[in-house]
Amino acid sequence: NTSQTIYDLIGEKQIRLLTQFFYQEVSKNEDLKRLYPEDLAPAEDRLFLFLLQVFGGPETYSEQRGHPRLRMRHANWKIDASMRDHWMNAMITALDQIQVDQNIKEAMLSYFVKAANHMINHA
Ligand code: HEM
Repeated sequence: NTSQTIYDLIGEKQIRLLTQFFYQEVSKNEDLKRLYPEDLAPAEDRLFLFLLQVFGGPETYSEQRGHPRLRMRHANWKIDASMRDHWMNAMITALDQIQVDQNIKEAMLSYFVKAANHMINHA
């Protein structure tokens, strides 16, 4: 069924695991970590709810936070190509750790590449 979303195919649990693995990588990377709040748990929840929504699941993120406007929400941080690479490497490592079909991982990766490039706001 072509109308099945990534959320339908992989479920909430894998998206939760993906965000947990992602923030494990953030906590190990000094360049990324200094951008984030001391307590990473609330940031992890925001990314989790956002990804549920992006991949076709419940829209709890927008109910709680409003329209994503992600580029605007990232304006506080200088995000250059090198910072994008840190973020992408953390996400790729997280994707490697979840139990999801390779074709679905590739679809997720392609979304993340576009979204991360879109977040660059500094040369
Ligand atoms: C928030 C950094 C890319 C989704 C944040 C925060 C930082 C950050 C420091 C604040 C953490 C918090 O308290 O929520 C970066 C950097 C990126 C990047 C350096 C490099 C390209 C992305 C991408 C996505 C994303 C590609 C989506 C696929 C989010 C979301 C939030 C967030 C949903 C929470 C927004 C809110 O509701 O306030 N990001 N981010 N970020 N980021 Fe990113």
